[in-house]
Amino acid sequence: MIKINNLEKTFNQKFKTFKALDNINLQLEKGKIHGIIGESGAGKSTLLRCINRLETPTKGTIEINGTNIMSLSDKELRNFRQNIGMIFQNFNLLSTRTVYDNIAFPLELSKVPKEEIHTRVMELLALVSLSTKASSYPAELSGGQKQRVAIARALANNPEFLLCDEATSALDPKTTKQILELLKSINKKFNITIILITHEMDVIKEICNTVTHLIDGKCLYSGRCSDFFIDYEKKIHKDSLINEKKDIIDSCHGKVIYLTYTHSSAKAPIISRLSRLLNIDVNIINGQIDSIGDIVLGNLVIEIEDNNLILNKTLEFLKESSVEAEVIK
Ligand SMILES: Nc1ncnc2c1ncn2[C@@H]1O[C@H](COP(=O)(O)OP(=O)(O)O)[C@@H](O)[C@H]1O
Ligand SMILES: [Mg+2]
Repeated sequence: MIKINNLEKTFNQKFKTFKALDNINLQLEKGKIHGIIGESGAGKSTLLRCINRLETPTKGTIEINGTNIMSLSDKELRNFRQNIGMIFQNFNLLSTRTVYDNIAFPLELSKVPKEEIHTRVMELLALVSLSTKASSYPAELSGGQKQRVAIARALANNPEFLLCDEATSALDPKTTKQILELLKSINKKFNITIILITHEMDVIKEICNTVTHLIDGKCLYSGRCSDFFIDYEKKIHKDSLINEKKDIIDSCHGKVIYLTYTHSSAKAPIISRLSRLLNIDVNIINGQIDSIGDIVLGNLVIEIEDNNLILNKTLEFLKESSVEAEVIK
């Protein structure tokens, strides 16, 4: 468990001080995949660097497994860091070392005996499907292969945490998917807590259990992915669904309502029930269904007669059916 309380990080820049993190409060559960999303400059890397103490916070506390990491001695800090693996956008492999020796490197630093290193490196190579590349050099590998070497290296000391800073941002979509699958399987297999920074929504959607949204050093949202995406997708879908049928909506004589269905209501035949119950015609102008994890999110633009009594009854019915409704015309 990682508990972050009132975290603040201020940098002294040339002519001013700059607050890169502003009163961040987070609780990251063990064994989960946590995403941190935000635009460039939002403070994502700074937050990650505070978590592994490469950066010292200006204010606040970070507790990892019940220990305040601000109070660690140098020696404790070294042990603590062994428990945290890290991977980066540009892989950070040692170019003069083979794949094998790159993965062996952290084990050598931890003074693991040679035979044990061999066994462990072979295991890790198999884990990341690179057993045939042991004697290759990083320059001979594709981006995806390089990142897999970096993942194997990060896992060498059996860390409890894996921090990923834009780990797929330099990769094409297909390779990104493969790396995300690998991270997902590592999370399951070893119960490693993964914290993953990205500026791509799709990455969060693909593998994260929770998400923290940073804007200008402030936390706008932290919690379950599904709730975050429902809000996010609602905005995106609304704009696109309405814009796509703008001409039709403009020419409607009735009331136009924008509906958002979530959870189980998305599968229920709401519109036909509405039509039958109130004995009205419902004209469907546009619609779309999407799934976010195991949650179904549906959006519909409908038109009903321009009659306030019918409108009120419709809104009442929708509310009872847990469908969000907004009259847009
Ligand atoms: N060492 C530093 N000195 C001064 N400013 C910094 C330093 N590190 C980061 N910053 C500033 O803090 C802000 C957040 O940076 P960063 O955490 O790298 O953002 P992100 O990873 O979300 O792109 C940026 O505006 C950056 O310029
Ligand atoms: Mg960054």
